[in-house]
Amino acid sequence: MSNYHIKHLEEYYQVYRKSVRNPESFWEEIAEEHFLWRKKWDTVLSWDFKKPEVKWFEGAKLNITENCIDRHLATRGDKTAILFEPNDPKEAAQHITYKDLYHRVNKFANVLKAKGVTKGDRVCVYLPMIPELAVAILACARIGAIHSVVFAGFSSIALATRINDADCKMVITSDGSYRGAKSIDLKGIVDEALEDCKGVNKVLVVKRTKSEIMMKAGRDEWLQPLLDDASDELVATVMDAEDPLFILYTSGSTGMPKGMVHSTGGYLVYTAYTFKNVFQYRENDIYWCTADIGWITGHSYIVYGPLANGATTVMFEGVPSYPDYGRFWDIVEKHKITQFYTAPTAIRALAKEGVTYIDTHDLSSLKVLGTVGEPINEEAWHWYDDNVGKRKAPIVDTWWQTETGGIMITPIPFCTPTKPTYATLPFIGIQPALMDENGKEIKGDQADGRLCIKFPWPSIARTIWGNHQRYKDTYFSAYENMYFTGDGALRDEVGYYRITGRVDDVIIVSGHNLGTAPIEDAINEHPTVSESAIVGFPHDIKGNALYGYVTLKETGESRNHDNLRKEINQIITEQIGPIAKLDKIQFTNGLPKTRSGKIMRRILRKIAGKDTSNLGDTSTLLNPECVQEIMDNVL
Ligand code: WTA
Repeated sequence: MSNYHIKHLEEYYQVYRKSVRNPESFWEEIAEEHFLWRKKWDTVLSWDFKKPEVKWFEGAKLNITENCIDRHLATRGDKTAILFEPNDPKEAAQHITYKDLYHRVNKFANVLKAKGVTKGDRVCVYLPMIPELAVAILACARIGAIHSVVFAGFSSIALATRINDADCKMVITSDGSYRGAKSIDLKGIVDEALEDCKGVNKVLVVKRTKSEIMMKAGRDEWLQPLLDDASDELVATVMDAEDPLFILYTSGSTGMPKGMVHSTGGYLVYTAYTFKNVFQYRENDIYWCTADIGWITGHSYIVYGPLANGATTVMFEGVPSYPDYGRFWDIVEKHKITQFYTAPTAIRALAKEGVTYIDTHDLSSLKVLGTVGEPINEEAWHWYDDNVGKRKAPIVDTWWQTETGGIMITPIPFCTPTKPTYATLPFIGIQPALMDENGKEIKGDQADGRLCIKFPWPSIARTIWGNHQRYKDTYFSAYENMYFTGDGALRDEVGYYRITGRVDDVIIVSGHNLGTAPIEDAINEHPTVSESAIVGFPHDIKGNALYGYVTLKETGESRNHDNLRKEINQIITEQIGPIAKLDKIQFTNGLPKTRSGKIMRRILRKIAGKDTSNLGDTSTLLNPECVQEIMDNVL
């Protein structure tokens, strides 16, 4: 029997050792006993981090939707698979059973097929958190099309970039989306984006807000009538374990987002296995992850991981503050949520409202709490533990990335003693290493270094879409034979890891990864801007907020700085989306540069964070005089 469900700490250590000593036989056993394969693999694992190339379960055949839906029909057909909680609390929740999901996915997949989508085609999904989003991606997977979900908060330009990069032939969207009291014209954003996307010949539109929209003849079609006419049966396309399942974009240190490619077999095995253990999921639990399916957390832990375990997974359309800050707790009480998985930024925003909203709700159903996306500060951790979990529901601080596909460092609840701000121990099969700046591994306790992973795990992203060289350069070139995460970490005396944050040009704002380069590129498009540099600074709720240093062209005219700030944020909103707006914009006469002309962000970061005690030697800069000016005018 494989160790599919770990129940105590000793068992964790024992299984961990087994998984590291002989990864192939370990994962083979898990894969063999808990999943549905049309054909078993020829090789469990082949890998070479130098190329880099990783293959799991090569030669195996499967369809992930048969694992997530079909195989549950006999025993869980009438069980709720997706529990949809709408934005408006007055609108009824929807319970979509496994049987319903099976029929809905088949219908949707039949529509895709009828519209000419075939195995390997890329389909862009730009939808709010409504059931059709989950159904759409499962429908793609059912016929072997590669889904590329773009978070429905991205602007038309950001959407167009992603559609073109993946060369999508179809977009699935909705008329509009609800976000608290607001509604957003999603279809209008798609229309704008498609002016620059010549490869898209079909747009399927879900009706959600019933707003007036433009329907382009020949290109745009309402989804519902097509579904009404489609058959609810369809034989799933048999896929190779290494066939791509989806592309998901993440920010990088250059302007172009990276389309991380995840493959089918390993991703299924790892997301399912981590879901079961990290949330200690049991048959009648009601699990809720508050993320958006537009991010990896939603892919792995709203859709694939839970459904592969036959779980009930909640999809929430709204925001934590609507109609008031008690909404999350309303939902927990109403649906008797057992596992609740959210982001530190949400916890901080809710903590700011005090406990009034909590005290009026019964949260006693909660067994496990989770956090993800950024380091959680000690205060937020305790607030979550004391008030939400009443010190009875362990907090799993889960560290992982879009690139890793699944949770990598985490406590296992009721097994691993938790420690505030520590993601604690590597998950089964994960071999972390801390590296120093000279490329040497730091062994032992009390280590502080750059976090790498030494050995492949089943759900590691296989490449960057269309740019394998960039995949190699970004993740496998900093340290020999290691996957480099881009994060810094500490390891304490018992081997617990604490993630300290990004060591590259990515800034995490409210749990969203933002590259500095694309934001600077956007700002520099403003006609009066000469140069800019973005850094992060600590923010009570968002974790980090963005601080922009901007130099203006000499025009001889004086400009109203407040208007300029608005214009700059407007450009950023158009090019990327509102999530990338700057909190502070300081105009300055110069940016500190090295003699080779590189902007010294380290200095700018310290000034923005009001930590100027240790700026280092600035005299070697090309323009040391600007440092004082910047310090004098800091916002
Ligand atoms: C950060 C999200 C500290 C980290 C699943 C990582 C975290 C980046 C944690 C990936 C955590 C994620 N503690 N930092 N528990 N979880 N991060 O790709 O910097 O959106 O590299 O994936 O978020 O963000 P991504």
